[in-house]
Amino acid sequence: MIEKTSASDELVIAIPKGRVLKQLGPRLEAAGLDPSPLFAEGRELIRVDPERRLRYLLLKPDDVPTWVEYGAADLGILGRDVLLERDYDLYAPLDLGIGHCRMMVCGHPGADLRPRGGRALRVATKFPGIAARYFKERGIATELIYVGGSVELAPLTGLADVIVDIVETGATLKANGLVPLENITEISSLVVANRASFALKRNLIAPLLERLAAGGE
Ligand code: PRP
Repeated sequence: MIEKTSASDELVIAIPKGRVLKQLGPRLEAAGLDPSPLFAEGRELIRVDPERRLRYLLLKPDDVPTWVEYGAADLGILGRDVLLERDYDLYAPLDLGIGHCRMMVCGHPGADLRPRGGRALRVATKFPGIAARYFKERGIATELIYVGGSVELAPLTGLADVIVDIVETGATLKANGLVPLENITEISSLVVANRASFALKRNLIAPLLERLAAGGE
C-alpha cells in the first residue's frame, strides 16, 4: 500500500513545466481554479492555492507519472506520449484535449524504412519504447539510438536514418529539411490519478474532473 503524503482534505497535483503549461492555465481557469501560482516568478517547486486546498508540484513532464504512481501527488497532467513510453500503474480518467501533437517517424524526403542489404534501420529518438514497439509490429529490424533532444540533427549528421519524435507545428522539421514519413499516434494531454487517491479522495477528485471536462467544451 502506498503511503499518502497529502492531507485528506487537500489535493496535490503534479504539473509539467514547459510547453503545455501555457495551454493549461486557461483550462484551469475555466474549471474555476486559480492558475496564477503556477505562473508566479520564483524557483519554488511547490505552488499553493490555500483557498482551494490545492498544492501544485512543478515537474519535468517525464517525471509526472512517477510522483503520481507513488502517491506523492494525487493527480498529474501529462502527455499521452509519456504514458505510452513506459508502463505505469495509474488511472487516466480525462483527456484534456490540449497539447495536441503527433508522434511520427520523420526523415529525409523519400527515406527508405527498409534499408537494403539486411541492415537494421537506425532510429534516433527520445522515445525508445514507442519506437521499438512500432517497428517491431511492422517487422522492421531497428537499431535504436537514444538521444535527449535536438533529435532532428540525427538524420542530418548521419547518426541515424530516421527519427521518431513529436511533431507539433512541423516548424522544426521544415527548418531542418526533414519531412514526416509515418504517423505513429496522436498525442494530447491527460489527467492521471493515483489509484489509492482516486478511491480515498473521490469527493475532491470527481467534482474537479467534472469541472475540467466541462471547461473544454
Ligand atoms: C520538441 C520535439 C521537436 C519539436 C517539435 O522538441 O522533440 O523537436 O518540439 O515541435 P514543432 O513541430 O512545433 O517544431 P523541444 O522543443 O521540446 O526541444 P528538444 O529538441 O530539446 O527536445
